Amino acid sequence: MPAPSRSAVPNSKQGLRPRQAVERMAPYHPPTGGRIERMRLDFNENTLGCSEKVTAFLAQHLVENDLAVYPEYGAAVEELAAFFKTGQDEFTITNGTDEAIQVLINTYVDDDDEVVILKPSYAMYRFYSEVAGAQIREIPYRPGTLQFPLQELLGAIQPATRVVLISNPNNPTGSAVDLDGIVRILKKAPNAAVLIDEAYYEFSGITALPLIREYPNLFVSRTFSKVYGMAAMRVGCLFSRADNVAWMKKAQSPYSVNSLAVLAARAAIRDTEYISEYVGEVLAARELVYVGLEKLGINYVKSHGNFVLFDCGERSIEVRDALKAKNILVRDRSYEIPGAVRVTIGTREQMRKFLTELEVVWKCPAK
Ligand SMILES: Cc1ncc(COP(=O)(O)O)c(C=O)c1O
Repeated sequence: MPAPSRSAVPNSKQGLRPRQAVERMAPYHPPTGGRIERMRLDFNENTLGCSEKVTAFLAQHLVENDLAVYPEYGAAVEELAAFFKTGQDEFTITNGTDEAIQVLINTYVDDDDEVVILKPSYAMYRFYSEVAGAQIREIPYRPGTLQFPLQELLGAIQPATRVVLISNPNNPTGSAVDLDGIVRILKKAPNAAVLIDEAYYEFSGITALPLIREYPNLFVSRTFSKVYGMAAMRVGCLFSRADNVAWMKKAQSPYSVNSLAVLAARAAIRDTEYISEYVGEVLAARELVYVGLEKLGINYVKSHGNFVLFDCGERSIEVRDALKAKNILVRDRSYEIPGAVRVTIGTREQMRKFLTELEVVWKCPAK
């Protein structure tokens, strides 16, 4: 049967047909509700919350008139530029990294352009590339070790490649590429916008941000959703050379980041002590998790982020569900890596609880 014409007039039983690119997309299922009361080890958030100074700053600075006025970004741009050590024209504030990815793609990708992503990686790379109608080329992380496939990626980049999207460190594998590798990618892809998504930078310490003036095809994103504990606020930054940023701002909605989010970001960067303490706690807790997993004979991938991927073999769904019954949320990733479960690293106290419950589950398989 021929597909109905896209211009067909809808009748009362049928909605309007979307663009073909949208029809072709695989559906994405965001997390279900009810996470807030549980131990949230499933979305790589800060497991404690944001700095109290952020909520205090909001309470102190927010007045009724603020909500009546469209957002103004001037003070935040000044303070964020000083914090990140960039020019004020070398970034745009975004509605989380998700909007950064979207804006980058909207600015540089036409229908059928090639976008290169790695697999497995952050789901939104594929999502926005698919919405744009791009041709997606996926490069798998190294089978078994799940290390960054630098040679394979360099081999896949062609003159026609328009965008390369890299999570560094990568969610969910935790593996990372070093700066030398990033530079080789930038040099191999002079016609492509190369995004280095540094959502977990604070845990890895690897950043390409100081290179934006040297490489005109480099784009770097940062977020306030992870270590800063502000995922609900939806705020991040997308950095590049000033002329690239000017194009992206042209393609970005002028008020996509709300005033509360901007106020929160300004407060968050003032409390660097909270961030460094939390990072220190997570890095110590990550070691604890490695030891605990080894004790149980469970294989895992060493991580540069605040999460660890471990191998439950045939039991990934069972382990996830059994932990959930104990109010501990972890993420099953076996749909893309057989047996894989990802746990977000929180405090040492939280991870001791996780390991205690995991041991019970692991030693008593469900019938
Ligand atoms: C690699 C990576 N980038 C970006 C994000 C989301 O960032 P945001 O909340 O700023 O949109 C995530 C969240 O899981 C992620 O893993």
